[in-house]
Amino acid sequence: MPATPTTPAVAPLLIAIEGIDGAGTTTQTERLRAWLEASGRPAHATREPSTGPVGRLIREVLAGQHAPFDKAALALLFAADRMDHVTREIEPALAAGRHVLTDRYYHSSFAYQTLDADGAWVRTLSARARRPDLTLLIDLPAEVAAERRRLAGRPDELFDALVTQRRVADAYRALARELSGSERIVVVPGDRPADAVFAALCVEVERVLAEVAPPARG
Ligand code: TYD
Repeated sequence: MPATPTTPAVAPLLIAIEGIDGAGTTTQTERLRAWLEASGRPAHATREPSTGPVGRLIREVLAGQHAPFDKAALALLFAADRMDHVTREIEPALAAGRHVLTDRYYHSSFAYQTLDADGAWVRTLSARARRPDLTLLIDLPAEVAAERRRLAGRPDELFDALVTQRRVADAYRALARELSGSERIVVVPGDRPADAVFAALCVEVERVLAEVAPPARG
């Protein structure tokens, strides 16, 4: 007999987890998914670049396989991947009643691609991407994140030079300030143990869930 699908008590949320390379977005995205599931709230974890065809091409570019590669063309690829990701994976998961946690979303493009391309143009490319219900920005110094990547043995990719990561960290902080008037974006300090960061992220997710939950009866 097919399993009865569990539906969340609230409309499923789209939550983006953002930060510089080494901020821990991948670890925390998976932990949030497991935590939501364990408390009976169906959740789907995903990431950008996505696992789709454009996302796979982007990963090759990031690994230097197609160097030299035009930065504006890469900005277009990130935007194309996002449209494909939303249509192919995010919207269907939400429609199936699952909260969606995405490890990176359009804020990554706003923080990284604006280093090399016009900011307004970069934003226009993602204008049709659904707005997340919550964006969690894990903020930490670029030096700390670089040391974590070194200890984890992660090879450097296209954007991983320290000077670049410092600029990306600043761009993320400016974005959080600027976008806080139009969308829900929360900065969570990331220069502390992963458990402490996770606990702070859970608080923010519970907060938004409580706000969208239907009022208790009786
Ligand atoms: P990352 O999360 O580091 O992937 P992995 O864990 O597989 O290495 O993301 C890959 C890189 O792509 C990272 O440096 C951020 C960058 N990026 C952008 O520049 N723009 C974007 O829109 C996205 C989604 C990622």
